[in-house]
Amino acid sequence: MAHASTIRPMRSARAPALSGTVTVPGDKSISHRAFLFGGLAAGTTRITGLLEGEDVIATGRAMTAMGARIRRDGASWVVDGVGNGCLLEPTAPLDFGNAGTGARLTMGLVGPYDFGATFVGDTSLSKRPMGRVLDPLRQMGVQVVARSGDRLPLSIHGPRVAAPIEYRVPMASAQVKSAVLLAGLNAPGVTTVIEPVMTRDHTEKMLAGFGATLEVETDAAGVRHIRLEGQGRLTAVEHLVVPGDPSSAAFPLVAALIVPGSDIVIRNVLMNPTRTGLIQTLLEMGASIETLAERDAGGESVADLRVRHSALRGVTVPPERAPFMIDEYPVLAVAASFAEGETLMQGLDELRVKESDRLAAVAAGLAANGVAHEEGRDWLRVTGRPDGSGLGGGTVATHLDHRIAMSFLVLGAASERPVAVDDAAMIATSFPEFVGLMETLGARLDPV
Ligand code: S3P
Repeated sequence: MAHASTIRPMRSARAPALSGTVTVPGDKSISHRAFLFGGLAAGTTRITGLLEGEDVIATGRAMTAMGARIRRDGASWVVDGVGNGCLLEPTAPLDFGNAGTGARLTMGLVGPYDFGATFVGDTSLSKRPMGRVLDPLRQMGVQVVARSGDRLPLSIHGPRVAAPIEYRVPMASAQVKSAVLLAGLNAPGVTTVIEPVMTRDHTEKMLAGFGATLEVETDAAGVRHIRLEGQGRLTAVEHLVVPGDPSSAAFPLVAALIVPGSDIVIRNVLMNPTRTGLIQTLLEMGASIETLAERDAGGESVADLRVRHSALRGVTVPPERAPFMIDEYPVLAVAASFAEGETLMQGLDELRVKESDRLAAVAAGLAANGVAHEEGRDWLRVTGRPDGSGLGGGTVATHLDHRIAMSFLVLGAASERPVAVDDAAMIATSFPEFVGLMETLGARLDPV
């Protein structure tokens, strides 16, 4: 798969009523983990519904570089894992491109190995903080060589025997929780992660599915204690089904809500409660989102969503909901741009360290397109214009951030004037089908 190296500016113009049925690609978080855990577990894991975005492919390449065998077989991917504790030393730097999840989880996974591994990434990833993962790894005995303040490029080398730790995750981050648990897989004894604020639980659930000995206990204060027994056997999952990504579904979903007359169905969307904060918020705003045929798929709940154009009202989104919709604030800001009144989003500090400073990038994009808003240190207030009058006409700087690009292309679908983004190439990292899928529904997207 090619790297998103050529800049592709794109414009989105006001669309007629959106209609049709679409299926979004596989969940990015689960797809990364499918390659990581499948590549580690003994035996053969067959994966269907995998997201074939550049980020996930980079994780697959890293696992291949450390001994896993990964091949495509028709509509599925087949992974022959090495067995827990048996990864091989990579002979070249592991290149994660734009992918924070791939880089951070793999750092945890290989950290305790008594060999060296070098991590590199694109300009965006090289600006993102890695100390949040390196700090607990250092406590386990991992050596780190990072020339520019715990940022990529960096090299790590594990000790002869890693020390299991008890680690309280200092920020709401599923990546940090996951990195520590994955490091614990190769340390003797029990590694404990204390999670004061619950984040997406795919690592816990999937590791249990691969046979890890792990227990999760939630105390009276709601704090989760996750205990993992290290150096156990991990066994392949015969057939791993990846449900559709709610973070990708968010884009056609918000587009249908804001384009008058729209009525669409999005099929096979993951409904794990740690991922449905956006849907909850939109429902509070008055959105017409009907959950059809909720069912189980590989231990996760999935549903089809019928979404119709709706008169939205501004709401206050509480800070405690942030971990359950952390990737969806840019597109929520777009929905809020068409809501009656003000929408206040709080507890957004983690948005500053995503693929871009998403809070600043969203605010700048809103400013360029005439949306009234106010940006705080960790909050954003947006005042909507329900008919989209006076909105649009600007060009948005995407800063190598796929979700900024997709969010503002959605803004253009209901704004009076078209909205341009300076580069849509990064969309391929998480949602390569985005443009085609949106056009199927009736969106008007064109290169500029
Ligand atoms: C992810 C966790 C979140 C999220 C990212 C995927 C994961 O990051 O933003 O897109 O798969 O664990 P943080 O852990 O930095 O919050």
